[in-house]
Amino acid sequence: MIPTIEWKGNQVRMVDQRKLPGRIAWYVCRDYGDVIKGIEIMVIRGAPAIGVAAAMGMALGANSIKAGTYGAFRGRFRKIADRMITARPTAVNLKWAVERMSRLVETMADHSVAEIKAALRKESEEILAEDIAINRKMGKNGQKLIPKGATILTHCNAGSLATGGYGTALGVIRAAHEAGKKVQVIADETRPWLQGLRLTSFELMQDKIPVTVIADNAAGSLMRSKKIDLVVTGADRIAANGDVANKIGTYQVAVLAKENKIPFYVAAPISTIDMDTPSGELIPVEQRNAREVSHWESRNMGPKGVQAINPAFDITPGRYVTAIITEKGIIRSPYKREIKKTVKK
Ligand code: MRU
Repeated sequence: MIPTIEWKGNQVRMVDQRKLPGRIAWYVCRDYGDVIKGIEIMVIRGAPAIGVAAAMGMALGANSIKAGTYGAFRGRFRKIADRMITARPTAVNLKWAVERMSRLVETMADHSVAEIKAALRKESEEILAEDIAINRKMGKNGQKLIPKGATILTHCNAGSLATGGYGTALGVIRAAHEAGKKVQVIADETRPWLQGLRLTSFELMQDKIPVTVIADNAAGSLMRSKKIDLVVTGADRIAANGDVANKIGTYQVAVLAKENKIPFYVAAPISTIDMDTPSGELIPVEQRNAREVSHWESRNMGPKGVQAINPAFDITPGRYVTAIITEKGIIRSPYKREIKKTVKK
């Protein structure tokens, strides 16, 4: 797989996911502002990938600070952190990464500014490497839940492109495939941005994992006719009670899975669990430009002046989630108690 994001000298480059699968183009970030823009316009997307990008963006931002003292540096760094956190509101990994970078600065009061800048760059590289290692662990844990020959439904893209590499939901599918389980995947196309059609099918085809794309509204009918054995998705934020924010459409998939007695799994790193958010209704849901719904490229597909709304995520109550797959193990209900226990491990 092409790397989602990487350092290239003193710059950060990301593969421009708006152009995939047609073209592999690189979006080069010279400063933290380029990273914020890249996250906002979805050059890079997917909760863990956004976290890695934010960490690298903070390191880039640190490099641009001209300050002779720790106090001056810290003040400027905090301002960049406040701005970075606003790039996208739902994926908590962004906040998690910015806070981790900020905590590092807090521990370095007796170091030179040059040393702090170098440490921040190293930390961002570690966040990337850790993310890939975590996904592999999650894959190992999660693949045990996948029967041989299973047909798996997934929604959005929770693959290599949505993370530092390997993927969360697709990491579980990849691990099952690597274990020789001969799985096949049904990918929801995932309107309006088509992450399933454009990115998930692209990744799985590269790995030679059989994949078939369906219109989002075909999922229920396929479940009812027993063409799907289980569902696995990623998450943008998991509340302390097990409610899951993920790409719009996930909720209806989860409800349909329960109705049809199909297991619904969520694969996410511990950094996606937000212990400060007690339940799903407190998770901020990003509202994106309505043109993503009404328009195809620059053409309005509806009548002139048509109204549209575009919530980018929805909340699936924990009662619909069969289990949450993490790098620290599989979490099952009662989520409030079990999440707390697992996060502490
Ligand atoms: O709007 P996006 O493409 O950033 O939304 C991504 C998702 O909802 C993913 O399913 C989620 O981030 C999990 S990615 C490992």
